[in-house]
Amino acid sequence: MSTEPSAICASFRAVRAASRERAAPLSDADATVQSMPDASPAKWHLAHTSWFFEKMVLEPYLPGYRVFDPSFNYLFNSYYETLGVRQPRPRRGMITRPTLEAVHAYRAHVDAAIDLLCARAPPERASAMIALGCHHEQQHQELLLTDILNLFAQNPLRPAYDVHISEDSEAAALAPVTYRKFSGGIVEIGARDEGFAFDCERPRHRVVLEPYRLADRLTTNAEWMDFIADGGYRQPLLWMSEGWAKCCDGGWSAPLYWEDRDDEFWSMTLAGPRRVVPAAPVVHVSFFEADAFARWSGRRLPTEAEWEHAAESDASGGNFVESGLLRPAPTRPGESGLRQMFGDVWEWTSSAFSPYPRFRPAEGAAAEYNGKFMCGQFVLRGGSCATPARHIRASYRNFFPPDARWQFSGLRLAGDDDDV
Ligand SMILES: [Fe+2]
Repeated sequence: MSTEPSAICASFRAVRAASRERAAPLSDADATVQSMPDASPAKWHLAHTSWFFEKMVLEPYLPGYRVFDPSFNYLFNSYYETLGVRQPRPRRGMITRPTLEAVHAYRAHVDAAIDLLCARAPPERASAMIALGCHHEQQHQELLLTDILNLFAQNPLRPAYDVHISEDSEAAALAPVTYRKFSGGIVEIGARDEGFAFDCERPRHRVVLEPYRLADRLTTNAEWMDFIADGGYRQPLLWMSEGWAKCCDGGWSAPLYWEDRDDEFWSMTLAGPRRVVPAAPVVHVSFFEADAFARWSGRRLPTEAEWEHAAESDASGGNFVESGLLRPAPTRPGESGLRQMFGDVWEWTSSAFSPYPRFRPAEGAAAEYNGKFMCGQFVLRGGSCATPARHIRASYRNFFPPDARWQFSGLRLAGDDDDV
């Protein structure tokens, strides 16, 4: 996404239209129910992203801006302590009013005001905040999909979010995994100064990497089925202590959304229930599961620095939300190099989400965006089949707690230079 003011305003309109498109298949009821404390209703996502523009851009930078509804600050503030008290996260599903229609009216009000600001050549700081708001909204577009999947998976009818999603090619060939070798040394990671990046991606800095190897594709469902068949979910020595407790307490025996139907695995998807495709990347696994799988495989998860160094050298394209597939896809015959680095599934790394050397949070209210979450979470890289293509980059750091399973999260194995 360009940092030119006119390009930012054009991006704003495109991003807002994409959110409307994501919500189009949903009824007011679909968009209102909250499936679990970690997930949010689609209606809340649509309103909260508008609230973000209202608080971060319109109130400070558009003179005379009329707030759409003062009560919305309580309803749609997510976690910004500096911006006031708010509806508790686990109770966002109680917001049956305003209606979905009213939330769309809120969005139209905010859209018109940003258009007005754009027509007046906004100051540089306002443009920067519009850009942040666009990237923020793209994050919520993905969350809208992951949260709807979690909701529909709990509906006995197992409805499809999108009935037009193409059928899987269940017979896709299983590609053998090979390992790309990297010599390591002193390398740089992190976002450069130019272009948009979240504050947590900066500053670019040096790290030391030992020689390592990285799998040239994602871990597949076939490999995960071997892990299950070999008792991977029943062997405590494969697991971190906290992960084993989660596995036992949660009754985990397969990735989230998998069900065993007459000795055949099916999974809930945004296209409704589908047979698990052996050659497709495994998805909806926690860090704890990914880590246990890696140990069972005699490998390990990559660090985020190893992943980024590899992604900068050899990776492009990917299966993003624009493909319309809305689930990870097998590698295609004839592809070479590092495959599936971007798109398909977010890749768990072994790196805790922590500040880079000389990290400084963004200024103002946006200081709460990332920095205060740098405790107890692990970094995921590369984007997923629900990520907008223009949202992702090699330096992008996503983060979730190690037991989170409802995101489009999977893994790629790594190894030390002498063990693969
Ligand atoms: Fe947010």
